[in-house]
Amino acid sequence: MKALIEGFSKLDKTEKMTWLAENYTSNPEKTVALLQKYWNSDPATQKVHDEFIENTLSNYYLPFAVAPNFTINGKNYAIPMAIEESSVVAAASKAAKFWGSRGGFKAEILGTEKVGQVHFIFHGETAKLERFFEDSHPKLLKSVGDITQSMEKRGGGVRSISLRDKTQEIPGYFQLHCTFETKDAMGANFINSCLEQFAKTLQELAESYPDFSETERQIEVVMSILSNYVPNCIVKASVSCPVKDLHNNSSKASAFAQKMMQAIAIAKAEPYRAVTHNKGVMNGVDAVVLATGNDFRAVEAGVHAYAAKDGTYSSLTHASIEDGIFHFWIELPLALGTVGGLTSLHPMVKLALEILQHPTAEELMQIVAVAGLAQNFAALNSLVTTGIQKGHMKMHLLNIINQLGANDDEKKQLVAHFEQNTVSVSGVKAALDNLRKS
Ligand code: MEV
Repeated sequence: MKALIEGFSKLDKTEKMTWLAENYTSNPEKTVALLQKYWNSDPATQKVHDEFIENTLSNYYLPFAVAPNFTINGKNYAIPMAIEESSVVAAASKAAKFWGSRGGFKAEILGTEKVGQVHFIFHGETAKLERFFEDSHPKLLKSVGDITQSMEKRGGGVRSISLRDKTQEIPGYFQLHCTFETKDAMGANFINSCLEQFAKTLQELAESYPDFSETERQIEVVMSILSNYVPNCIVKASVSCPVKDLHNNSSKASAFAQKMMQAIAIAKAEPYRAVTHNKGVMNGVDAVVLATGNDFRAVEAGVHAYAAKDGTYSSLTHASIEDGIFHFWIELPLALGTVGGLTSLHPMVKLALEILQHPTAEELMQIVAVAGLAQNFAALNSLVTTGIQKGHMKMHLLNIINQLGANDDEKKQLVAHFEQNTVSVSGVKAALDNLRKS
């Protein structure tokens, strides 16, 4: 039975590492040495990382890469990506190059509305609650004046508060459904602070509302929290070109376009395929979201809810052929920030934003959507032509070689050998054994 501990968070870092290593690992000395090996050599930088979360022991590396040659609305980008999956960056770069020579990517913002809700229980007459809400509306807005002041200076703030009757779903359940504009901030703190103040004001005003009975005065707030579902914070990214330009052999071009159309149709019709199809989109989306210090869990939750908005989980990307032109596009709900949060704290995030030429949140939405679209195009391109394993295993080869502990010289020979041979774990192992024998 492994040990439990009281007051772990109060121990210093060395004590935490020692306790963990001694109680949960077979070689405590090795564990502590490994944790220390991944500390930043500059104590000030390490401190920055330590303070992001509680109980930090070390750092967890992910590769930070860049996919160059993206042209979006006529502007060139090298897109930073943080991701562990081999072939994602290579695929993005390939798609960037392909579309770069066919007019590049277009992207536009269709909306930037964020949402938050105060969930509460009211037992009484709905008509009276509605009157109370109408009377209280200006006071609710006024009560967040201190919180919204600086956001308003930047052009953001509370956009609307409405009362929603949800008693069909749960007896007594109502919401204040609130919408916000948060400009270049993702806005979670701003929204949650406003909502908590709305909840407080709502309860205070109800307590002294003359038309309410004693029971009606006791509004029970269950919770106040932003929603990561942002169906009106949407970006559209697209590419298009004449079908004939999709391939240098025009008969192949038309067959390729048809296959792409079929692949999209299947992802629209079949949830098992749609999930994997969209996972490929998120390979690109998450990698940029992570590199730019944004909340990928929020993005994931919101995007998948959006993919199911019509009642069935479906494709996030779309394609059509009109008058000989192939169109391929995506619409994504993305609540992103380029100020606040990690953006001014994490040195690599700051670098990622600099590489992207200090984008506004709207520009970042466009870049992320393009990364998702590019990734999906690259995946479908492989799937409907050579199959995914060829490119994937080529990239995976290095991981296998590293796992087997090959030295640099062996690595070179193995890479050369597998240019002509099919990659598999057992195949690489056998080839390495052969090399060593000879
Ligand atoms: C792998 O990470 C992503 C793909 O499976 C996406 C897809 O099937 O479209 C290749």
